[in-house]
Amino acid sequence: MSVDDDKRLAAFAAVDLVEDGMVLGLGTGSTAVFAVELLGERVKRGLKIKGVPTSDSTAKLAKSVGIPIVTLDEFPQLDLDIDGADEVEPTLCLIKGGGGALLREKIVAYASKRVVIIVDEKKLVDKLGKFHLPIEVVPFSRGLVQETIKKMGASSVVREKNGQVFHTDENNLILDCDFGLIDDPRALGQQLSLIPGVVEHGLFLDMVERVIIGGDGSVKTLLR
Ligand code: 5RP
Repeated sequence: MSVDDDKRLAAFAAVDLVEDGMVLGLGTGSTAVFAVELLGERVKRGLKIKGVPTSDSTAKLAKSVGIPIVTLDEFPQLDLDIDGADEVEPTLCLIKGGGGALLREKIVAYASKRVVIIVDEKKLVDKLGKFHLPIEVVPFSRGLVQETIKKMGASSVVREKNGQVFHTDENNLILDCDFGLIDDPRALGQQLSLIPGVVEHGLFLDMVERVIIGGDGSVKTLLR
């Protein structure tokens, strides 16, 4: 089985939680793509759902597979959010933002009654932090935030894609920050939120109902 098979298995199990009439959060990233595609197949077979996409790329995919797109203005409370993650630790805190969509992803997760995360087993860690923490900043504050992060003992780089500075869907920058292994993600999350110019950070803390993990031809579920 390949990593993609593991991702697809996890996506399949998450999509099984979806019921007729639900308004869903649609995540971003290669694992979430499998879920959106599977949902599209079910919509074609008659499933009635609506989706709030967490990125422009997911919006494009959702439209192409026939999922009706709605906004948080129309539906401020969502039934279920299905999204991927970059790292998952035992209390189901996450690092997200590898795909650069962490801001909309966190808004959509916060708006959702239930958040279901789908990953392959390589994403499981004992402690968060090997994957460098993405932090979304307004361009004006970039230098200040990098300096502040340096004083906190971490290094940061401005994310680039294809040799160009990467801009998020909200036209902000991403700083990928190396804090080492993070002993206290909740304390770090609070500290980061206090820095002016930080729009959002990629620590998703105490938001997740369950994590579905694909690995070795089967899935297992971690519940909070
Ligand atoms: C995007 C994300 C993704 O969910 C995360 O990067 C996982 O992506 P993938 O499923 O491709 O490994 O947070 O901002």
